[in-house]
Amino acid sequence: MDALGWRNTMREWALPDAILAAAPESPWGFPAELFRSRAELATPGDLSYANRRARDALPAGGTVLDVGVGAGAASVPLRPRCSLIIGVDSSPEQLAEFRRQAHRGGVTAETVQGEWPAVSTSTPVADVVVCNHVAYNVADLAPFALALATHARRRVVMEITGRHPTAWMADLWWRFHALHRPSHPDAGDVVSVLRDLGLTVHRHAEVSPRRAGGFERREDAVAWIRRRLCLEATRDTDVAAALGERLVHDGAFWSVRPPIEPVVTVWWDVQPEIAE
Ligand SMILES: C[S@@+](CC[C@H](N)C(=O)[O-])C[C@H]1O[C@@H](n2cnc3c(N)ncnc32)[C@H](O)[C@@H]1O
Repeated sequence: MDALGWRNTMREWALPDAILAAAPESPWGFPAELFRSRAELATPGDLSYANRRARDALPAGGTVLDVGVGAGAASVPLRPRCSLIIGVDSSPEQLAEFRRQAHRGGVTAETVQGEWPAVSTSTPVADVVVCNHVAYNVADLAPFALALATHARRRVVMEITGRHPTAWMADLWWRFHALHRPSHPDAGDVVSVLRDLGLTVHRHAEVSPRRAGGFERREDAVAWIRRRLCLEATRDTDVAAALGERLVHDGAFWSVRPPIEPVVTVWWDVQPEIAE
């Protein structure tokens, strides 16, 4: 797939106007609680594969730029090697949570609010750029990725799910709206688009339990999916029934877990790894 193919495929994910017009709340946006819990579970002592690829390219006291930072799960665990983390996000709520997590971890943080790549011209360059779980939100991947590349002195690391993160909801869309959902793009498409741009991209896929976290209350996990499905709150019981065994409590959090599938780390170097 090339950049044009990506744009066309992403267009197929648009929801029909009639469903959006009838939605009681916006189906978009990311619940702060979910990403806060993920950031709190991501620690320097338990780095994900993507965290390790980023750490291995960081000089001691280096700087990290985290695009689509959320609460900081991609960058705050790197704090022992960082002097500064710059977080970019379109959501002020997520940036506020990122500042709290950075403060809690004792690392200096700066924030830039806005859409990448529009805000890239006012965003400083860093040693390592990380961008986890954002690519499938991006309609135009080429300018997005090229702006990541020009902001890294050493390496860019992206973590993505193997499939589109809502592909697992296809049966729910069919059940509640008789709506067919696309199955692409997937991680292979991300890699193709990046290689087509001339980037020397590496990839690593693994099934990992690390993307844990979730909601303290079962009803909040159900409500998140119900909002995504553009349904009224009165449908929560139906949504919980349709989720079935995918609605799980791991001892700490409620989450909706798609069938096990790999998380993919994609990275490219601007300069080789530092041997330290
Ligand atoms: C799924 S969350 C991932 C958060 C975090 N990177 C993590 O892995 O936990 C995606 C985040 O990217 C932000 N986002 C999505 N597209 C963006 C864009 N074009 N520019 C800036 N932020 C974006 C969203 O607001 C959200 O906070």
